[in-house]
Amino acid sequence: MKKDEFYSFLRKIPKAEIHLHAEATLSRKTVQALLDRTPDSPAKPASVEKLFSYNNLKDFITSFLYVQGMITKLSDLEAMFDDVATYLKANNIVYCELFFSPSMFMKKGFAFPDMIDVIQKAIAKVEKRDKLTIKLIIDVSRTFGVENAQSNLESTLKHKAPMVIGIGLGGDEEKGPAKLFGDVYAEAIKRGLHVVAHAGEVVGPESIWDALNTLKVERIGHGLSAIQDPKLVQHLVEKQIPVEICLTSNVITQKYVTKAEDHPVRAYFDQGVLVVINTDDPTFFDCSIIDEFWILHTKLKFTMPEIKQLIINGFKASFLTPAQKDAYIAQVETAWGK
Ligand code: HPA
Ligand code: ZN
Repeated sequence: MKKDEFYSFLRKIPKAEIHLHAEATLSRKTVQALLDRTPDSPAKPASVEKLFSYNNLKDFITSFLYVQGMITKLSDLEAMFDDVATYLKANNIVYCELFFSPSMFMKKGFAFPDMIDVIQKAIAKVEKRDKLTIKLIIDVSRTFGVENAQSNLESTLKHKAPMVIGIGLGGDEEKGPAKLFGDVYAEAIKRGLHVVAHAGEVVGPESIWDALNTLKVERIGHGLSAIQDPKLVQHLVEKQIPVEICLTSNVITQKYVTKAEDHPVRAYFDQGVLVVINTDDPTFFDCSIIDEFWILHTKLKFTMPEIKQLIINGFKASFLTPAQKDAYIAQVETAWGK
């Protein structure tokens, strides 16, 4: 299929994206405007291009935190959801589980309840206007230590909003091993939250085992290093633990793969892992979910029926109820059949 046909066909198919960071879905235009109003300092990048140039996770995280740091008003947070909605609509993503990382904002003086209040209203507005559904996963973060993660969880529980469905663990995997966060995760599970974690993005399979065994996560974010441990791949297959693949993100951060063709997503899929396709940080990695499917189709030889299965997997691996999943999957089937 030609590229433009592929894109226009995929735009017609309703999709889910379940590993997407809100702050990294700000448009470049918005980031440029934030940069323009940010006072000069030695840390200030000379341009948006400079801000978005990195080739490892650490430097990416520095840029991610810098962008968060430029968000200084509650109205910026509110406006962020218009950019999220623009991205979702452009890709016909009708259901999204979106990460929001409060740590940096709280360090800058935002109060958690104020942020949740604004976000809740912003999400309600875009859901109604754009006929899509956004659920939030609070990234308690491994970058700032266990106490900070515990405090993020406490805030999440204290100011529980209906669209908040779980917690995640993003940030620097090398600096914050999953096993340190066992108590935080045990408490989250006890209080009825879903739990996911980035694991195996820049650390070996032991990090994924820790996320599974110590944190008891329901899904793995990235899971790139699982390929090094066949027993782990077998475990993921047997338990049907979803792996949130973020291919372009992994190629740009260059830890285990430097080109799409080398990504283990093909091997995972062929072995029966429940893989789901995501962009992670679309603006930071200059990609969209349809771009990701195009790469899979052209560079990793995913056939159109396989692409359809991957799209269905997005809903299957979500935290929707079985009836909701069935309803969305039926919509995919109908749109695909036309
Ligand atoms: N890894 C860790 N932290 C993150 C990421 C990621 O891919 N994206 C945003 N924060
Ligand atoms: Zn991520």
